[in-house]
Amino acid sequence: MGKRIVSGIKPTGTLTLGNYIGAIKQFVKLQKNRKEDEFFLFVADMHAITTRQVPAELRKRTLDIAAMYLACGLEKERTVLFIQSEIKEHVELGYILQSNTYMGELERMTQYKDKSIKQDTSITSSLFTYPALMAADILLYDADYVPVGEDQKQHLELTRDIANRFNNFYGDFFTVPEPLIPEVGARIMDLQEPNKKMSKSDEFDKGYISLFDDEAAIKRKIRSAVTDSLAKINYDPINQPGLANLITIFASIKDLEIAQIVEKYQNSTYQTFKEDLAQALVDTLIPIQKRYQELIKSQELQDILDQGKAIAGEYAFKKMRKCKQKIGLGRK
Ligand code: TYM
Repeated sequence: MGKRIVSGIKPTGTLTLGNYIGAIKQFVKLQKNRKEDEFFLFVADMHAITTRQVPAELRKRTLDIAAMYLACGLEKERTVLFIQSEIKEHVELGYILQSNTYMGELERMTQYKDKSIKQDTSITSSLFTYPALMAADILLYDADYVPVGEDQKQHLELTRDIANRFNNFYGDFFTVPEPLIPEVGARIMDLQEPNKKMSKSDEFDKGYISLFDDEAAIKRKIRSAVTDSLAKINYDPINQPGLANLITIFASIKDLEIAQIVEKYQNSTYQTFKEDLAQALVDTLIPIQKRYQELIKSQELQDILDQGKAIAGEYAFKKMRKCKQKIGLGRK
């Protein structure tokens, strides 16, 4: 029997190379290798509003991500592509799962801790309860696998705990999902500060590559990426974190092993290595951007999202009806 694979991306900031390598590229690869499986992928716009968003920008980014999923190579016939806020059951289940999640569990989430340290005033309560909504996104569709980058692993562990807790109390109901974290590229680092995760939240920065960057920007950012003074192409994340990150990016983009990249460039200068890497990125990203341009204004994208909404909506509706029955909510 085929498995169901579910994942989402939050429309805040721009999409980065980190999102591409850690998440989107995995979706595409899985879809190629797992012909039996179903793919439910969505734009997590409800998650975006845990921090203040400009409405017009939020709407644009939401559609951008939907178009980018397809532009990066997801097969439209095999993907249930939808927008989270268009399926109201996510929030409904999110509340129910909050009622099965403990304060202490949410307080331990490192993403919440990091964000709340950066932003010590005006922390919304939804930023705190966010992992319960994320659990709902996954459990609503009985996901078997959830492909994500390393930073989401803790949220997945919590999702599994919540599912098990619910199942233990109410009887088997939710599929307990497993994270799928890529072997190479699960945590792409900032190009300027290679001890920090590459993040889409810092706008106008040399630290990340946006999937929308043009050729000149890609080349400039790779050229100025921080390395070290050892002048030796070697994979050593402790002593050469900047270079290790670039090697990881190269290996992932080319679908090669890290050792293969190291072997190929072991006698090269950093400059040659960086030039080749920049070119590989240009060769990957520019065709994606062309497809994105065709899709973003198309009726086809709207039709795909309508269809995704219908399929996901029907599944969610049925699951929630049963869920409420289990819990004893409503009259029957
Ligand atoms: P988000 O939008 O921050 O990131 C989307 C995906 O990209 C991965 N990612 C990275 N991978 C490698 N290196 C990086 N530097 C990097 N930055 C981001 C993330 O791990 C993620 O897989 N809460 C989620 C969105 C979400 C979700 C879900 C995911 C909401 N509901 C249900 C899976 C299932 C988030 O904020 O991801």
